[in-house]
This record gives sequence, structure tokens and C-alpha cells, in this order.
Amino acid sequence: MARPDRVEIVDVGPRDGLQAEPGMVPTADKIALIDRLSEAGLPAVEAGAFVSPKWVPQMADATEVLAGIRRRPGTRYPVLVPNARGLEGAMASGVEEIAIFGAASETFSRKNINCSIDESLERFRPVAASALAAGMKVRGYISCVLGCPYEGDVPIESVVRVARELSAMGCYEVSLGDTIGVGTPARARAMVEAVAEVVPVERIALHFHDTYGQALANILSCLEAGVATVDTAVAGLGGCPYAPGASGNVATEDVVYMLDGMGIETGVDLTKLVDAGRLICNVLGRAPTSKAAQAILANA
Ligand code: HMG
Ligand code: MG
Repeated sequence: MARPDRVEIVDVGPRDGLQAEPGMVPTADKIALIDRLSEAGLPAVEAGAFVSPKWVPQMADATEVLAGIRRRPGTRYPVLVPNARGLEGAMASGVEEIAIFGAASETFSRKNINCSIDESLERFRPVAASALAAGMKVRGYISCVLGCPYEGDVPIESVVRVARELSAMGCYEVSLGDTIGVGTPARARAMVEAVAEVVPVERIALHFHDTYGQALANILSCLEAGVATVDTAVAGLGGCPYAPGASGNVATEDVVYMLDGMGIETGVDLTKLVDAGRLICNVLGRAPTSKAAQAILANA
């Protein structure tokens, strides 16, 4: 299959990138980051999570963040929602798109959302139905699609089963999370091709963490299977609080640089994107892990 001419990038930095930060990032800085990403032309910026503040304290200010951002026409601002309580919070904040998040590994599911895979699917079903009835869009995540920090290998059939269920609940897209970045290109592609038998490839997104430095290669191999949506985090921020040792998502700058070089459209302005990454890295007191950002900043 030919590679897509255009790829949609979902910057999950303000959520996935920040959720494991030990010190509270000021709300104003989260708002500034989201606004800069909007200005850089991102079609989707994951703005936060309506999860238990006991589980993920960093996301406790989601309501304030959503109240403070400037919503740019052409950018969507999805948020994570684990249950009915989270949906209420999202609705009260004027959110138009939620993401429910399950896993292909039992142990990860329990560690992350305190229930089994089957229980999570039962919990998500009414949440998705209420969101759809209210006119919201619903995205579905699956974690541990290429390996689990607790169980090791994860059978592709588990990924396919959860993908089928999320799609049947009305998720317009299923985002496949290599939570701990252990995948390599041939396995990533085989997994995507198996999921594409139950969810059309246009409705599949890639969500690859870059722990082992494989994310760009994995993305390229899956673009060749027809996938055209990629989750990334500005500056390569992040990690999952329930996946020990997992590092950030693939950096948005690296993906945009690669796609620009291949003549694949994203609508993202790389200069403004690097600037957004620099801003949040100054707040966090560290350099971007993005190689492209480092190179661009060194030559600025
Ligand atoms: P639980 O403890 O089983 O639930 O947690 P509970 O219903 O017993 O609630 C416990 C407390 O949390 C209660 O408060 C609830 O009111 C409160 P208390 O009575 O003790 O004072 N609570 C909430 N508060 C605010 N918003 C809510 C909410 N729900 C309950 N929505 C639960 C179950 C799902 C809530 C919890 O496990 C949780 O919040 N987990 C979220 C974990 C998380 O956010 N992980 C990171 C995101 S996933 C990820 O990063 C992977 C991804 O990037 C893809 C990939 O890379 O693979 C998406
Ligand atoms: Mg993630």
C-alpha cells in the first residue's frame, strides 16, 4: 500500500508528556503549552485527563486548563476519561472529544485503571454511549500492544479483541499504544495489520513511546501499511506513571521533520513547534529529548 499524502498528528504532550512529572507543573504553563501547540497548527492536542487526582495528581487541574486555553478552530482538544465521573467533568468543561483507555494486558489494566480488561470494557460502554449521545467524539486507546512492563509479550489476539470492542462501542479511532516502546518495525506492522482486519486502517492511530529508540522506524513501517494518524509529544516529553521505566512518546518535532522530508503534509509549522517545546522544557528545567529540536535549537 502507498504511504499517505497527509498524516494527522495528535500531540499528547500536555497529557501523556506531563502526567508523570513529579512536581506540579503550573496550570498557566500547561495552558501556554497547549496554546503554542494550537498556534503551531496541530490538528489535535490532548489537553488533559479527568482521572482520579489520587492516581495522577498532575492532571488534577484539567478543569482549569480547559477553561484557560484558546480553542483554535481546526484544532481538537481531546481529554482522557476513565469512567462516568470523568465524563461529567469533561462535559462540564465543554469538551467535545474524549478518549477512553484500555489495555491488551490484564496486569497493566489493573495497575492503570484498577480493573480487569473485561471490567474496563463494561465500564467504558455506557461512558461511550453517553458521550456519543451528547454529540461528543470518542477515541479509544489500547496500551501494551507490543509488550507489557509486567507480563512481557502480549498476544496480538488480545490487542485485536480490545480493538474490536472499542470500535463496536463507537470509537471513531483506535490508538495503539506501545506504552513501553519495546516494538520493532516488523512486529509493529504485523500487529497493525492484524488490527486492520477488524478496524479499518483509516481509523487506526499509532501511539508509540520511544523508550528503545524504535518509534520513528515503527511509525514509518506502519505508514506503509496505510495508517495516517500518529500520536506524538512535543519535545519527546513523558512516560506513564504505571509503566516503570517507560520514557516519552516519540517527539512531535522528529515526526514532523521526517514527514516534511518525505513530502507528507501535516499542517504543522516546525519552527513554532520547536518553540513550544522550548517553552515547556524551560519550565521543566531540561532539554528536549527530540533530536530534531536539539539540532534546530543548536543552529538557531
Ligand atoms: P479506583 O480507586 O478503582 O476508583 O480508581 P474509585 O471509583 O474507587 O475512586 C477512587 C477515588 O477517586 C474516589 O475518591 C473517587 O471519587 C475518585 P474518594 O472517594 O476516595 O475521595 N475518582 C475520581 N476523581 C476524579 N475524576 C475521576 C474519578 N474517578 C474516581 N474520573 C480509576 C479507578 C479509573 C478512577 C483510577 O484508576 C484512575 O483514575 N486511573 C487513571 C490512571 C491514569 O490516568 N493513567 C495514565 C493514563 S493511561 C496512559 O498513559 C496510556 C496511554 O498513553 C496509551 C499508552 O501509552 O499505552 C493512554
Ligand atoms: Mg502513552
